Amino acid sequence: MKLEIPASCRTEPMKVLLTGAAGFLGSHLAEALVGMGHDVTGVDSLITGARENLRSLENNPHFRLIEHDLAAGLPAEVAAGQYQRIWHLASPASPVGYVKHQVITLKVNAMATIALLELAQRCKARMFIASTSECYGDPLEHPQRETYWGHVNPVGMRSMYDEAKRFMEAATMAYHRERGVDTRIVRIFNTYGPRLAIDDGRVVVAFIKQSLKGEPLTVQGDGSQTRSLCYVEDEIRGFIMLMELQPYHLPVNIGNPDEVTVLQLAEEIRELVGSKSEIIRMPLPPDDPRQRCPDITLAKNLLQWTPVVNRREGLKRTIEYYRKKIQA
Ligand SMILES: NC(=O)c1ccc[n+]([C@@H]2O[C@H](COP(=O)([O-])OP(=O)(O)OC[C@H]3O[C@@H](n4cnc5c(N)ncnc54)[C@H](O)[C@@H]3O)[C@@H](O)[C@H]2O)c1
Repeated sequence: MKLEIPASCRTEPMKVLLTGAAGFLGSHLAEALVGMGHDVTGVDSLITGARENLRSLENNPHFRLIEHDLAAGLPAEVAAGQYQRIWHLASPASPVGYVKHQVITLKVNAMATIALLELAQRCKARMFIASTSECYGDPLEHPQRETYWGHVNPVGMRSMYDEAKRFMEAATMAYHRERGVDTRIVRIFNTYGPRLAIDDGRVVVAFIKQSLKGEPLTVQGDGSQTRSLCYVEDEIRGFIMLMELQPYHLPVNIGNPDEVTVLQLAEEIRELVGSKSEIIRMPLPPDDPRQRCPDITLAKNLLQWTPVVNRREGLKRTIEYYRKKIQA
């Protein structure tokens, strides 16, 4: 990935802790941070991530990975460590992942967040938490601005994720307000690109895999529900700008407002792959959001961040990655 990081985000080399480093977003972020000259310690249990995602950093002296489940607390050496930046990305992130690992999802977003906030307070580190558009639930306001409080089922089949992320935001604000921890909260909207786990059901990769294998593309419901998809490169640049550019502590949406229906997405991917797969309908899963689209006015005004990779280009790059992976 060739990431254009604005010069204003460059700092002296720092000691950085990154949880979820072997995941989709974490591995791209790890590469970007090492590329900026930082020393990165990754922590990951590999529950939904893979070492293979970190292949480019395997022998890099500025990166190392500690394999550890944060649901069981921080590794001793991390708890005793000294960091200037802490990025907390560890969590199952797809409905398949968090429904399969419900208690871990709650613990890693709630208890591990508190443990990391305590560590940030002790180290005087700046801490970034990966929250989500799921905080808006099945939204009654469209597009979603950061000031919208959300429409979330607290006991539904996504609640272990949605409510844990909402708790994570509340905890982060409390440590900021009461204890002065220098925090950043990003609300991530659907992001796609190379290294998304191929079998976790996230819509872009599911359609790419089905198209490449000549299997039917499974659209849930009538396919009129919308998603707004951000290419990973834009997302990671937004994270780094949010971390480095402004002392802003309330949540910031980072995503691409380019909204598409799920059916249209299936058709586009099928066409870009050059596949003849048919499109078939499946039942809608419970609490599936009807509409998702970020209002990114805040990120534009605060950070001068805006996504630049259009959907067709991002999909082409993603398809090439999976074409090679499936052929290998
Ligand atoms: N990708 C998206 O579209 C998206 C959207 C909204 C929010 N997010 C958030 O961004 C973060 C990263 O998501 P991703 O898409 O890269 O998912 P991912 O599953 O690819 O990566 C998450 C990583 O966290 C690790 N992990 C999970 N539980 C852990 C635990 N208990 N201890 C240690 N490591 C653990 C996994 O092994 C994995 O490597 C998550 O917090 C997710 O909630 C992602």
